[in-house]
Amino acid sequence: MTPTQTPPAYADYPIVGALPKVWRAPLQFFVEAAASHRVVRLNLGPRSFYLLSHPDDVRYVLQDNARNYVKGYDMVKPVLGDGLVTANGDLWLRQRRLMQPAFHRQKIAGLADQMTGAAAEMLERWGPLAQRGAPLDLAAEMMQLTQTIIVRTMFSTDLSADAPRLMAAFSAVLEYLNTLIFAPVNIPVSWPTPTNVRFRRALGLIEGTVYRIIAERRQAGRSEPDLLSMLLDARDENGQGMSEKQIRDELLTIFFAGHETTASTLAWTWWLLGQHPEPYARLEAEVASVLGGRRPAFADLPGLAYTRQIIDEALRLYPPAWMFTRTPVADDEIAGYRVPAGVQVMLSPYITQRLPEFWEAPAEFRPERFAPGAEAGRPKLAYFPFAAGPRQCLGKDFALVEAALLLAAMVQRYRVRLAPGQTVRALPIATLRPQPGVLVTLQAR
Ligand code: HEM
Repeated sequence: MTPTQTPPAYADYPIVGALPKVWRAPLQFFVEAAASHRVVRLNLGPRSFYLLSHPDDVRYVLQDNARNYVKGYDMVKPVLGDGLVTANGDLWLRQRRLMQPAFHRQKIAGLADQMTGAAAEMLERWGPLAQRGAPLDLAAEMMQLTQTIIVRTMFSTDLSADAPRLMAAFSAVLEYLNTLIFAPVNIPVSWPTPTNVRFRRALGLIEGTVYRIIAERRQAGRSEPDLLSMLLDARDENGQGMSEKQIRDELLTIFFAGHETTASTLAWTWWLLGQHPEPYARLEAEVASVLGGRRPAFADLPGLAYTRQIIDEALRLYPPAWMFTRTPVADDEIAGYRVPAGVQVMLSPYITQRLPEFWEAPAEFRPERFAPGAEAGRPKLAYFPFAAGPRQCLGKDFALVEAALLLAAMVQRYRVRLAPGQTVRALPIATLRPQPGVLVTLQAR
């Protein structure tokens, strides 16, 4: 092999490339493709991607040579604009510096009560269902809960009367984003197709509300302990604040990046716990001994170490951001293969976190993989559910605090059992969703 060799293609049929295989069974396809070569070329219709899975190559792209790898997420820009997830270069750096302080762990501590408060309301609502033994879709419940939490932590309100219409609009936009992922061609959003019309109407409603809330807050001239005030008050080193449009972009970014991911994590966690009575019993014991019946609080988290291990392991098996891409600015070379500028490089926590070279019995749910010291034996980037390097998830601490507190709160109040006979499949859209949901019954404890 010469250093300039192009990576071998996988399942490459004329014109359509590997698309038919991707549509049939996407996760299986990507896992098989990654197993075929360390760097593999995938032609998906008109677009060509290079899939990398070795932890050293992931580290190279996300950390060691991160400056050469930018995001090319233009298709989601109608929604996220130039918010943190999509921005590149100087704009990204400025925004990251402005926003990072609000996401430090200590700042998240101040949001913990909002999180457990919303959970307490949900657990109250579940009471009659538990009494009747009625089944409940935990995936939908977790989505509603994390949506409520992100809205409250952004705006210090529930959006009151607007909430149902807005939540429906948020879901419509999310569904639209999800359809873009494996679309063979991107239909411009300005074309009046029924999908585009629905999408634009939903987005218009969201934008109108966000701009109204910004204006009201500015007019009131008060500062609240929430993300909106943080964005309004942030100043760069020249004393410059953010424009109205930039604040809109960041709020929509935080909303979309910050709830479905955590909801999926919790839904998958319950799917796994429901099939593994031993870790579940150990979790219940930890929660009982640490909390002794109290509502969980930020200060309890160090004691809830096994709770965290369970979440870490759920994020290994079912990482919500299961795949993302980077685009090299200049030609590069990875593992001896030529990686030309402009090609899309795919990185997948789902694939890397199940590689048998780095994970013993990778398909098994074993929270002890994340016990203190257990990580020493594997490369750091064998696990990257929140990405890594300069563009690591801004909301990592937010998500981990939220997931642990919500899980503990649920475990404390109910025993959760999977409804028998259901098949749950991992649906790889923008996030890795449990499909059609996770049906459970509850028993008050
Ligand atoms: C379990 C939950 C979560 C997971 C697994 C997750 C995962 C990720 C991943 C993998 C990325 C990098 C994506 C890429 O490079 O293309 C990312 C970026 C980001 N996430 Fe998260 N995320 C989660 C929760 C959150 C939450 C709760 C928030 C906000 C409250 C958030 C905000 C962001 C932002 C703003 C970025 C862009 C950061 C940048 O590029 O500077 N995420 N997340």
